[in-house]
Amino acid sequence: MSLVKWVDFQTLGDERGSLVALEIGQEKAVPFDIQRVYYIYRTASGVSRGYHAHKALKQVAICVAGSCRMVLDDGRTREEIWLDCPTRGLLIDSMVWREMHDFSNDCVLLVLASEHYDESDYIRDYDDFKRLSRDALHSSVS
Ligand code: TYD
Repeated sequence: MSLVKWVDFQTLGDERGSLVALEIGQEKAVPFDIQRVYYIYRTASGVSRGYHAHKALKQVAICVAGSCRMVLDDGRTREEIWLDCPTRGLLIDSMVWREMHDFSNDCVLLVLASEHYDESDYIRDYDDFKRLSRDALHSSVS
């Protein structure tokens, strides 16, 4: 099963341009209650970000301007995808390692998150992530 899961947003467009609205508590496309929104922008040329997974946090990443390349890894498979569409978000589940590369100069990456910021939810070491994801897999099949 692919790690790439898209969330499509309704566009309210007219001759002036496009608009996407996300209503807290009423947003049907996002499969969690949105507790936090943050955005990454003006990423310096050649910089990659991420390099972590979350124990519980789920996120939806929307490239509202420009483009970037996202790598997702669940400990068994690794997939990569370009984000470049403001009406389409990438669902990033818990226990998925993510890396973001090749940010365009104009990239604005908006992220919807299921929880408030909590550093203790991060797994920032790839070997720890592999071990924890293997343990989780074994406990779910035994
Ligand atoms: P981090 O999640 O490591 O960024 P990225 O995955 O994009 O490389 O966050 C960078 C710093 O910002 C880190 O010190 C934690 C802080 N931070 C917050 O305080 N609140 C937040 O909501 C986020 C996402 C990060």
